[in-house]
Amino acid sequence: MDLSTSYLGLELKNPLVAAASPLSREVGSARELEDAGVSALVMYSLFQEQIEHEAAEHDHYMDFGTDSFAEALSYVPSRAGFRREPDQYIEHLAELKKALDIPVIASLNGTSTGGWVEHAKNLENAGADALELNTYYIAANPNTTSQEIEKRYLDVIAAVTKTVKIPVAVKISPFITALANVAKRMEEAGADGLVLFNRFYQPDIDLESLEVSVDLELSAGHEMRLPLRWIAILDPVVKCSLAASSGVYTSHDVLKLTMAGADVTMLCAAILRSGAYVVSDILKGVNTWMERHEYKSVKQMRGSMNQASCPNPAAFERGNYMRALNSYAPQF
Ligand SMILES: Cc1cc2nc3c(=O)[nH]c(=O)nc-3n(C[C@H](O)[C@H](O)[C@H](O)COP(=O)(O)O)c2cc1C
Repeated sequence: MDLSTSYLGLELKNPLVAAASPLSREVGSARELEDAGVSALVMYSLFQEQIEHEAAEHDHYMDFGTDSFAEALSYVPSRAGFRREPDQYIEHLAELKKALDIPVIASLNGTSTGGWVEHAKNLENAGADALELNTYYIAANPNTTSQEIEKRYLDVIAAVTKTVKIPVAVKISPFITALANVAKRMEEAGADGLVLFNRFYQPDIDLESLEVSVDLELSAGHEMRLPLRWIAILDPVVKCSLAASSGVYTSHDVLKLTMAGADVTMLCAAILRSGAYVVSDILKGVNTWMERHEYKSVKQMRGSMNQASCPNPAAFERGNYMRALNSYAPQF
């Protein structure tokens, strides 16, 4: 069975990629994922704020010293004295590259252009095989229009893709009004791939302390239907790669998302809940299903149920809405 796929121009042995998660923080857990069978690893994100914070702190120390004394440099702490997230990230990326044979995709989180974008070059130089640009942003300001937000995304994509030669994927929000239009413009701005979707973490209220609480709820299996719909719609619309992220737990999820048009499916919560072995289980399940249904390769299956190819294209849009509501039978 040929499970190979092409994602961002990278030839991968199968469509299971480890999504950005804390599992990439340790070389040991990253190796376990590789041994279990993932074909590529996305690192946890380095945030724009972390890069800008380091730069600001560096400037603060430099100004402080030079204004006061001629021999100021002796007062300036060594670089190791600054917060060093960006440097540590690069060092860790280099370690992962050394330890793993699979491609390593670095992840940058940023939603506006600025000096930090240059950092993408450092990730490329440290050996990243590709970059994932994570655009996690909450559109809460009532004075900011959707056009302004979209322009920001497009500007960051253009700035990053001009800075590096390695491929760049953009992990997008499902809360974009005209998603197909924005996806097309992201591709035109230089994106080599889109990751659908960034999963937004919703705050809660602690009724005792009356504080907003942040506890991370992992996804549920049904959440894969959101990327399923949008990948099916976007596959005929864009030429760039498509990755599915959110609620991928089983071999059937992988098969369905591949048929919808995903080049790869990304696993995060499934591994966090069950451990790396879930990857080999899913791969076995995909193999068995393909054998039973006489598919020879993942490439043959990819996109076979996208909106342009499936028997009922309207089902991915409004078509089944009324039917779905009316078909629900209350149990009481
Ligand atoms: C603990 C945790 C940490 C995560 N860290 C990142 C991150 O640093 N960057 C990122 O783009 N996504 C991050 N994600 C999101 C995942 O990559 C993924 O998109 C999301 O969890 C949906 O996939 P899932 O349903 O398989 O969990 C994180 C998710 C979890 C649960």
